[in-house]
Amino acid sequence: MSTANPLDDALARLDSLQAEGLAGFAGAKDEAAVEAVRIDFLGLKQGRLKAAQEALKTLGRAEKPVYGQRFNAAKQALEAAWEASKARVGRPGEVADAVDVTLPGSRPKIGHRHPLTQTAEELIDLFGRFGFAVARGPEVEDVRHNFEALNIPSTHPARDPADNFYIGEGTLLRSQTSTVQIRTMESQPPPVRVIAIGRVFRPDETDETHSPMFHQIEGLMVDKGVTMADLKTVLRLFATSYLGRDVKIRFRPSFFPFTEPSVEVDMLWHGGDRWVEMGGAGMVDPNVFRAVGYDPDEVSGFAFGLGIERLCMRRHGIKDIRSFYQNDVRFLGQF
Ligand code: PHE
Repeated sequence: MSTANPLDDALARLDSLQAEGLAGFAGAKDEAAVEAVRIDFLGLKQGRLKAAQEALKTLGRAEKPVYGQRFNAAKQALEAAWEASKARVGRPGEVADAVDVTLPGSRPKIGHRHPLTQTAEELIDLFGRFGFAVARGPEVEDVRHNFEALNIPSTHPARDPADNFYIGEGTLLRSQTSTVQIRTMESQPPPVRVIAIGRVFRPDETDETHSPMFHQIEGLMVDKGVTMADLKTVLRLFATSYLGRDVKIRFRPSFFPFTEPSVEVDMLWHGGDRWVEMGGAGMVDPNVFRAVGYDPDEVSGFAFGLGIERLCMRRHGIKDIRSFYQNDVRFLGQF
């Protein structure tokens, strides 16, 4: 592309040099490539721009300023392209790995306690404030603690194999937490003020309100001069604390072999029109005191047994007892 005019030739070479340089910077993929293009075009010793500067010497006086201007423009364009390509390739690895500590964190999902455990803990706390300690007993029981000491003789229908999970000679899964009354009184002299919370087992058909395994809270208070009024006071205090201030409590005459008199405990609240049965209670039968070596002429006491699932279901409006045991996080996550 040689022409008669050396200035035009030099300017044309400058044009293509600039175009090639700009394309080189634009196509450079990483820092090393950008640096290679820089050395090729802007290198101070061997760079192509440096070589183009030499052309100045071959031009005449009048041509020099024209070429010089164009040369400076090309140099500026190439330097700007170099800066731009450096910024573009940047340090991609470091940017991707960097942790921006000012960003909001992602919250780890933290588990929590099962609603029944929460209820049990709340009950322990509540009765603790009334002075009740926590007592425990085994889930595998003998007939003495599940029946005999509780004044349930061998002929009593409650001992029927169809109504209990017998697992050996004289051994069964406890059908009630009243077993812990006996174990507690056997292990200490009066006065007694305990609650026991735990699983009980009965071969019931499973449905919305029945499960072959469920939980009870048992209460026992024994001292000189304990009366039915104390029982009602404790249960009312408990009910208003757990379910709400407007809870009403009612006793209906009933029968349990280990209490005399015995009552069913009903509760009514939030202006409802239906009394809900929460469990049984009564004054400890003298035969029970005799079975554990307490003197029924010296002390008296009350006992109660309430269903934990039932309490929790009433409080939270849970409709199906089976929800507690299915381990569905969509259910459990709500509590
Ligand atoms: N153990 C009885 C039941 O399971 C409840 C109860 C406990 C009744 C204590 C009276 C006293 O039904």
